[in-house]
Amino acid sequence: MPNNKPAKQPEADRKVLQRDTTPHIFRPINFRSVTARNRIMVSPMCQYSAADGVPNDWHLQHLGCRAVGGAGFVFTEVVHLEPRGRITPNCLGLWNDEQRDAFKRIARFIKEQGAVAGIQIGHAGRKGSTAQPWEGGKPLAADKGGWTNIAPSPIPFAEGHPVPAEMDEKAITQTIAMFAAIARRAREAGFDIIEIHAAHGYLVHEFLSPLSNRRTDRYGGSFDNRVRFLLEAVDAVRSEWPEEKPLFVRISCTDWIEGGWDLDSAVKLAQLLKAGGKVDLIDSSSGGLSPLQKIPVHPGYQVPFADAIRSKVGIPTGAVGLIHSADQAEQILANGQADIIIMARAMLNDPYWPMHAAKALRAKFPWAKQYERGDIF
Ligand SMILES: Cc1cc2nc3c(=O)[nH]c(=O)nc-3n(C[C@H](O)[C@H](O)[C@H](O)COP(=O)(O)O)c2cc1C
Repeated sequence: MPNNKPAKQPEADRKVLQRDTTPHIFRPINFRSVTARNRIMVSPMCQYSAADGVPNDWHLQHLGCRAVGGAGFVFTEVVHLEPRGRITPNCLGLWNDEQRDAFKRIARFIKEQGAVAGIQIGHAGRKGSTAQPWEGGKPLAADKGGWTNIAPSPIPFAEGHPVPAEMDEKAITQTIAMFAAIARRAREAGFDIIEIHAAHGYLVHEFLSPLSNRRTDRYGGSFDNRVRFLLEAVDAVRSEWPEEKPLFVRISCTDWIEGGWDLDSAVKLAQLLKAGGKVDLIDSSSGGLSPLQKIPVHPGYQVPFADAIRSKVGIPTGAVGLIHSADQAEQILANGQADIIIMARAMLNDPYWPMHAAKALRAKFPWAKQYERGDIF
């Protein structure tokens, strides 16, 4: 007998036809096997509060509180490859097992709160060996605990800064091997995502920019040579970082200096990273290479970089920099300018920013059970 009843619409199709009214920033997002509950990321923020690179109670409460606050991704500050790769003697490191074991508790706690636990890894290069910002942030003399920095070329960051030691090929090979070692310990510590810090004038960025890299070997000169160090670092990380776990890269999309690294170079680099298939998101920041930079700072001033890379390369991007309001963040995602919103200072100001943004955007967002009774405004 013919069945004249209209075909039942499958559940999945009906869902597609219904308009998703969830604000974009509160829609879950997947990278490889990892799903974040929303698209808000706590940006890496140095706390300059460690001894011997080991995370402590300060780091647990700083990151833990922001995971409780509802962010989808909570990233550690930059965690360094080796002692002389630190910005200050009080920065974090992950070159030994004691550090790894101390990170385990932090990664576990972030995940227990429903956030994705991310770790940013990097090397300070010629910008290492400085005092904590609240101690003036100036280069540290050896008798005050300072050390000799390394860099692609012996060019100081600024006047009054020491000349770094030029890395020879052996130092480059050893540093690349450290990227593999830190990825292994990050995996053992239980992190979900690694972000390579290739921005803000630190070691990897120093290789990228023609202003700080004057090498004449295969790590300097042409664009292909200047990006080699980062590409090798990506390969090294991937050799120890499981295929099912995502890898992000933070880059400076411009030096904001005539003749320096610029957006065209950033797009070309993003194309290479996409083609390699090992990197899942470009965290699109800028600047930091030299005090000569001229940055036209205004709300969302780096969003066009995330937008350009996303549209020209077709790789997911994160927008960062002076994104403070829920409406602004929502608009960036609704416009398709980025895939996630990355926030630093607003998160320092208000660890519960995601909970408050949900309220402002009338999104349903569960509070931590212990804090439900605080939901009174
Ligand atoms: C206290 C502090 C520490 C920071 N430390 C890092 C860091 O470890 N790694 C990094 O990539 N950026 C670092 N940044 C930069 C931020 O992650 C972010 O890119 C920048 O502050 C712009 O975003 P915002 O306007 O939301 O603050 C730091 C910023 C602040 C305020």
